[in-house]
Amino acid sequence: MLEVVRKVADLRAKTAQYRAAHASIGLVPTMGALHDGHLTLARSAKLDNVRVIATLFVNPKQFGPREDFAAYPRDEVADAGMLERVGVDLLFAPDLEEMYPENFSTSVAVGGLTQTLCGLTRPHFFGGVATVVTKLLLQSLPDRAYFGEKDFQQLQVIRRLVRDLNIPVAIVGVPTIRESDGLAMSSRNAYLSPAQRKMAGALPQIMQETVAELRAGNPAATILPSAKSRLHKAGFDRIDYLELCDEQTLQPIAIARPPARLFVAAFIDKTRLIDNWPVI
Ligand code: PAF
Repeated sequence: MLEVVRKVADLRAKTAQYRAAHASIGLVPTMGALHDGHLTLARSAKLDNVRVIATLFVNPKQFGPREDFAAYPRDEVADAGMLERVGVDLLFAPDLEEMYPENFSTSVAVGGLTQTLCGLTRPHFFGGVATVVTKLLLQSLPDRAYFGEKDFQQLQVIRRLVRDLNIPVAIVGVPTIRESDGLAMSSRNAYLSPAQRKMAGALPQIMQETVAELRAGNPAATILPSAKSRLHKAGFDRIDYLELCDEQTLQPIAIARPPARLFVAAFIDKTRLIDNWPVI
């Protein structure tokens, strides 16, 4: 039976009980609007740990002033039902005041890795993520915490902050879960109209073709411009980036060499879709 707690003190009382019973704890942080990608994180956490805690908090600090915080899909009852069905033990769903009480004035800033890709077009994003994830990890102190590779830059930023701040939690990256046409699962896919959703299927297709061309040793400078024009033709209005990067440093590279990964962020109308694929 899934139990829901909203206060840090109640979360800590539950984790103390789990610890007293020598149970390992897996944490699955989410902003709700759950889909099979999130449930895969929860299933991975179930395999590795005796107890699994999910968190549900739509974090205002990671949205820019003109972004979709207000419109972000929210359905706690449906989310709780899904988490219960995959065997999650506890849902921590704090309100805004519990996470950011009056005069909250601390933030966690990760340098380097955040100065590229999404960090350039969403300058507020990683500070908000780093701050909330640091809080969630310290509030629950799990053995392991699970994050999807779909948000690969976020995963690397979290790995770095945990290492830099000596937070005693293992960060586990879980491969992206995709729809049948290859589109990466995302809560934001819900914003797409049926026609836009159909168009979005071009993204994984063009990414895979581009990965093959890069893997064959062609330079990014010749391959990426034509991939961008294919994305435009397929209906992507704006492309924030399409970059071949070293997956450790997240810095652009000219020719694929291990560990290379292709990263994209592109819009269909107002919906921003991101994805990434390993190259070599
Ligand atoms: O990936 C997400 O859903 C969020 O960025 C996270 C990690 C739950 C922090 O709010």
